[in-house]
Amino acid sequence: MSALQNKTALVTGGSRGIGRAIAQRLAADGARVAVHYGPDEAAAKETVSRIESAGGRAFAVQASFGTAGAVDRLFEQLEAGLGDSVGLDVLVNNAGIASTHGVHEVTEAELTRLLAVNVTTPLLVVQRAAPLLRDGGRIINIGSVASRMAVPLQIGYTASKAALESLAPTLALDLGRRGITVNTVAPGVIRTDMTQHFLAVPELAAGIESVSCLGRIGEVDDVADIVAFLAGPQSRWITGQTLDASGGTWLGPLQPAL
Ligand SMILES: NC(=O)c1ccc[n+]([C@@H]2O[C@H](COP(=O)([O-])OP(=O)(O)OC[C@H]3O[C@@H](n4cnc5c(N)ncnc54)[C@H](OP(=O)(O)O)[C@@H]3O)[C@@H](O)[C@H]2O)c1
Repeated sequence: MSALQNKTALVTGGSRGIGRAIAQRLAADGARVAVHYGPDEAAAKETVSRIESAGGRAFAVQASFGTAGAVDRLFEQLEAGLGDSVGLDVLVNNAGIASTHGVHEVTEAELTRLLAVNVTTPLLVVQRAAPLLRDGGRIINIGSVASRMAVPLQIGYTASKAALESLAPTLALDLGRRGITVNTVAPGVIRTDMTQHFLAVPELAAGIESVSCLGRIGEVDDVADIVAFLAGPQSRWITGQTLDASGGTWLGPLQPAL
């Protein structure tokens, strides 16, 4: 039997990039997946279509995070989509936005938006999902290595991802007696729309490869496989933790052969 047979999953930002790969992977493991999206309906339809073509089950749910009433809209559509089988087994808080401003340029408006989309909304989503989550459920938040590294042009993003990561221990304690685990997956640089502008610059891409132990840029499936492990039964004894998904990015300089 597949690991997520008869389970349901909500993947926020499941329309593109890492979220799409997670949605496809959880569906391949047997889950019925609610694919959340913001403005890009075509991308969400494409994710649903890919899942269905592979024999899986999925439906799309729209909500623009950072706007009033977004979490209500998300859950109205989620509950309508789940129909008679209302109940959730896996929640992946993946939707997020990046920033490109440094210490001296970042504005209050940008910080407010980053925190709204990357921190406040995921927490409110957990709050709304908690009564729907079945015992033994899973919550997985997508953080970033940015919370443990200096990333000069992303101070607001770094703060938002550190804040998101900080939620897991408290949520794990709160939900643990129901067998629900809560963990953060922290990717390094992954090839998606979010990173294409700097990965297109060969010197920047080479620099990122050079600080990864495994010597390459991450791909979306590198993260989706880790999320699938956390979503499945074999991760039952891990909770409140952060799993680095960066190929060992920035663990130290390469040593010359002795
Ligand atoms: N790529 C990386 O190198 C990397 C590294 C570390 C962590 N991460 C994290 O991984 C997650 C996914 O990143 P990605 O690279 O896959 O990003 P992406 O390709 O830009 O996709 C972002 C996803 O989030 C959704 N989204 C963004 N803003 C939204 C909003 N305001 N309301 C609703 N939905 C919204 C998008 O929906 P639409 O399709 O509708 O626009 C899309 O599905 C993010 O949390 C990101 O911070 C990424």
